[in-house]
Order: sequence, then structure tokens, then C-alpha cells
Amino acid sequence: MRKGFEKLSRRQVLARGVSVVGAASGVLGAGHVLAQAAPAAAPARFKVGLMLPYSGTYAKLGEAIENGMRMAVAEKGGRLAGREVEWIKLDDESEPKKADANARRLVQQDKVDVIVGTVHSGVQMAIQKVVAESGTLSIIPNAGVHAVTRNACLPNVFRTSFTMGQPTVALGQAMIERKARRAVWVTWDYPAGADSLEGFREGYVKAGGSIVKELKVPFPSTDFSAVLAEIAQLKPDAVACFFAGGGAVKFMQDYEKAGLRHRIPLYGSGFLTEGVLGDTGTAAEGILTTLHYSNLLPSVRNGEFRYTYSRTFRSEPDVYAMQGYDSGLLLRQGLEAVQGDTGKREQLYGAMEAAVIDSPRGQWRMGKAHNPVQDIYLRTVANGENRIIGVAAKALEDSGAGCKLA
Ligand code: PHB
Repeated sequence: MRKGFEKLSRRQVLARGVSVVGAASGVLGAGHVLAQAAPAAAPARFKVGLMLPYSGTYAKLGEAIENGMRMAVAEKGGRLAGREVEWIKLDDESEPKKADANARRLVQQDKVDVIVGTVHSGVQMAIQKVVAESGTLSIIPNAGVHAVTRNACLPNVFRTSFTMGQPTVALGQAMIERKARRAVWVTWDYPAGADSLEGFREGYVKAGGSIVKELKVPFPSTDFSAVLAEIAQLKPDAVACFFAGGGAVKFMQDYEKAGLRHRIPLYGSGFLTEGVLGDTGTAAEGILTTLHYSNLLPSVRNGEFRYTYSRTFRSEPDVYAMQGYDSGLLLRQGLEAVQGDTGKREQLYGAMEAAVIDSPRGQWRMGKAHNPVQDIYLRTVANGENRIIGVAAKALEDSGAGCKLA
């Protein structure tokens, strides 16, 4: 085990005369006679490390996740299993090169109890390496890269969002039903784009479609001129894509400006149209997407979530806000099962594995490889909103290929 990651076993901690919960406060020294001790110390504060993008193309996504997470904790009076919460924020800039140092800072210097992060799949890969060494609890509130919950899966890592292939595997059938048999695929060149394509290929080709060209743009470039020129020249029946955040807005606007919107229908993983419809004007109208959420889901649960979120944060919740909220719900369930005692690792992970989350997206359960098992909705943009037009896949579970947790 690396230096700096040393953790006391429960027996060691008990031998030193402090409870695991109170360990960080260190109020009772070894050998202290309990009868003379002051009243029991309050449990140490529970440290939540928020490793999220607060700048760059994914800045709004990071903010929405934080808001959602805070809302779930606020519902319990700002506490987790009775413990006060300390929030430690870190802007990861969606920059994989800085990700290892950033994750180590949270673990070694700030000594967080959990890392909640992140959005960008490349940064997530680096977090995964750090928490593999330290054993720190890790909740992924967005990034969908397959490897972290397939081959590289870990008992201390749980995802509350989706895997990249979940929305795209469900897209193909809907496209074929709309006579889009020859499609161009386009995305950013990084792990999230590659895994979205994997899902798209699986669903679309199986449904009878053929991908005439796979195009890539470097992340986070928003110069789409070359790929749009190629699409115009190839004249496919449709284009399918993965883009998100600020880059998604620019892509849809450039697609419209290039005169393609009415000629070649655009489809996407639903992130394309999430949290951005206030900025896209007509460019997003009519686009069909697949996702595990729409803020228009008609359930009471979603209505309550939307009401409280929009009153508290003065903005409409989107898929990212919902995922942040569900991260808070999962953490609450886990910690309540061990009365806030994170030393009870096995019980904590067991409770998180058994969790059924009463989410604004609809109820979901944790799959064997620690991904949500969830419905994928078919949506279309109408009057600046993601209208639901059906369920594209019911209770979809990622394959978890190569993961030996089960
Ligand atoms: C990712 O990098 O995994 C990612 C980023 C933004 C999204 C979805 C996935 O909207």
C-alpha cells in the first residue's frame, strides 16, 4: 500500500480507544479512563470532495451536479447519517493531464471521505487509478466511460449516472423506424466518444443500419467546419452524434448554419440537448435523442424534484442535476446503513449495492458492476423542451464485461 494511504483497521482504531466515527477528532487519547471522559464528542465531519468541471465546455454540468448533490443533503438538514458535512470543491477543468494530481490532493491532503466526480471520462480514468490505490469511496455522478465499471471495476466505485453505451444502443432502432438506414457518426475524440460509438454500432447495425463514416473532432474543439463539409458531401440518411455542454450548442448551431438541419436529420445521445435548449434557438428543434431522463417526466417524484430545485437554484434541473441528486441519495442510503461509520466498509458497500433509488428519472437499482439499471427514454425537442415520445429500452443494464464484483 502506498505511503500516505495508510488506513487504520477497525481493530487498530478500537485499540486506540476512539470510535471510527470520532477518529478524526482525536479527543480521546490511548489509555484514557472512559469514566473520567467528557461527554461523547460529536462525530467528525464527513468530508465530500467534489471533483467537477467548473470551467470550460462542461462548466454548467459540474455546477448542476453540485446543486443536485447539495439538495439531497439539504433534505436531511445538511447532514449525512447525522454527521455534519464539509464540502471541498476542486475544478478539474475536464483536463486529464491534471487529473492524477487533483485526485491525489483530495485523497492525501484534504483526506476526503468520498470523491464525487466527475463529468469527463478521461479525467475519470485518472480518478479510478487513485482510488484503486487509496480505497477511497468514489461516486461517479456522470462520466460514462466503460472501462471503470467493466475490466477496471472496483468495490469502492459506484456510478449513479449511465454508461456511454446505454443511450446510444437504444438509438439505432428508433432511427431505422424513421428510415435512416445509412448514417454518419460524429463525436469528440476521447473515451466518452469512443464508448458512445460502441453502443451506437451495436444497436444500429443490429437493427439493420449501416454506418457510412465515423468522424472525430479533437476534444474540446468546437471547430466543426471540416466534419460538416464532409457530411454535406456524403449525403447520408441521417447523422448520429455524442456532444454535450457548450460544444453541443455550437455543433447544433453550426449544423443549422451549414444548411443541414432540414436536409439530413440529426440524432444524438440525449446529452446533446440537455441543459442547453435556452441557448440553441431553432437549431435543436425536431432533434430526436435517447436518454435516461427528461425534465418533463410526468411523475409526482419528478415534479417535486423540479419544483424544489428550480426554487432553490433559480434554474431548471437537467439530467446532470438529477444525477447529482441521486449521488446524494445513494450516499445517504449507504451511510445510514452504517450509522455514518465509514469504517464498516463491507456493510457500507453492501448497502450501496443493494440500493434502490427513488429517483426523479424513475426508480432504479444498482447493477452488479455498480451501474444503474434503468429505462432509456426516446425524446424529441419541441418548443425548446425535451418531449418524451416513448421508452426506447426498458430496465437496461450495462454488460459489465470483465468485472468480477458479482
Ligand atoms: C463523459 O465524458 O463521460 C461525458 C461528458 C458529458 C456528458 C456525458 C458524458 O454529457
